[in-house]
Amino acid sequence: MDVVLFGRKKTVAPETSPSDLDETRIPKHVAIIMDGNGRWAQKRHLPRVAGHKEGMNTVKKVTIAASHLGIKVLTLYAFSTENWKRSENEVNYLMQLPVDFFDTFVPDLVKENVRVNVMGYTDQLPKKTQTAVNNAIADTAHCTGMILNFALNYGGQAEIVTAIQKIAQQVVDGNQQVADITTDTVDQALMTAPLAPYNNPDLLIRTSGEERISNFLLWQIAYSELVFTEGYWPDFDDAELRRCISQFQQRDRRFGGVKQPKNK
Ligand code: FPP
Repeated sequence: MDVVLFGRKKTVAPETSPSDLDETRIPKHVAIIMDGNGRWAQKRHLPRVAGHKEGMNTVKKVTIAASHLGIKVLTLYAFSTENWKRSENEVNYLMQLPVDFFDTFVPDLVKENVRVNVMGYTDQLPKKTQTAVNNAIADTAHCTGMILNFALNYGGQAEIVTAIQKIAQQVVDGNQQVADITTDTVDQALMTAPLAPYNNPDLLIRTSGEERISNFLLWQIAYSELVFTEGYWPDFDDAELRRCISQFQQRDRRFGGVKQPKNK
C-alpha cells in the first residue's frame, strides 16, 4: 500500500500501521476461540477438514499481524479436551495440523522473533504431534518477541482440577499452608503460569457468531473483555483483528473498581 508521508511516497504493509488504534493501549494478551471452520467448509460443499486447513493458514496470517501490532501473548484454542468426541477422521486431521503448521512455519516464526508455547495435556497427543510441538518449542526458545501459545488438548475445568491437585499435594508435603492459599497460588498452579506477567487475556475473541466460552481459560478470563465476531475463523484476518482491538479500546476496564488500576 502506498501512502504519502511528509511529502514522500512510502510503501507500508497495511497490517503494520495501527494508525486507527491507540498504540499505547494494545491488549497485551489476546486469546481466540477459532470457531466456524466446519461451517466455512460446509458452505463451500467441502469436507470439514478443508475448513481446518484454511483455518491453519489464517493462524499464520493472524500470528504475523498480532506480532506486528505489539501483542505480547497470542493464545489460540486449537483442540479442546472435548474435541476427541469428533469423528476419527477429523481428530486425525486435527492432530496432523500442528505437524504441518510447524513444518512449514517455524522459520517464519524465528524471523518474527515469536516463541512457541503449548498448554494442555500434551502427553495424551499422538507421538508425531508431541514431537512437532517439542521441536517448535525448542527451535523458538531463543525468541524474545510475542509468545504464540497453543491450547492443545486443553480444558479449563480439567486445568483447574489439576491446579487443585497440585496445591493439595503442596499442603500434604508441608510446603503450603491452607490459610496462605491466594489467587497468586492458583495463578502459579495453572497452565498459564509460564506466560507471566501476561497470564490472563485482556481480550478474548470468539469467531463465527457463537457467544459462549466452551471451557476455555475459565479462571483467566475473570476480567477479560469479550468480543464476538460474525465471520468464520478461515475468513478472519488482520483487519478483523484490528476491529476487535478497536472495540477493546472503546471499553472502560474497571476491574470491579471505579477506574483502571495503573498496573493493568
Ligand atoms: C472449531 O471450529 C475449530 C477447531 C476445533 C479447530 C481449530 C483449529 C484450527 C483453526 C487450526 C489449528 C492450527 C494449528 C496450527 C494447530 P469447528 O470445527 O467447531 O467449526 P463449526 O462450529 O463450524 O463446526
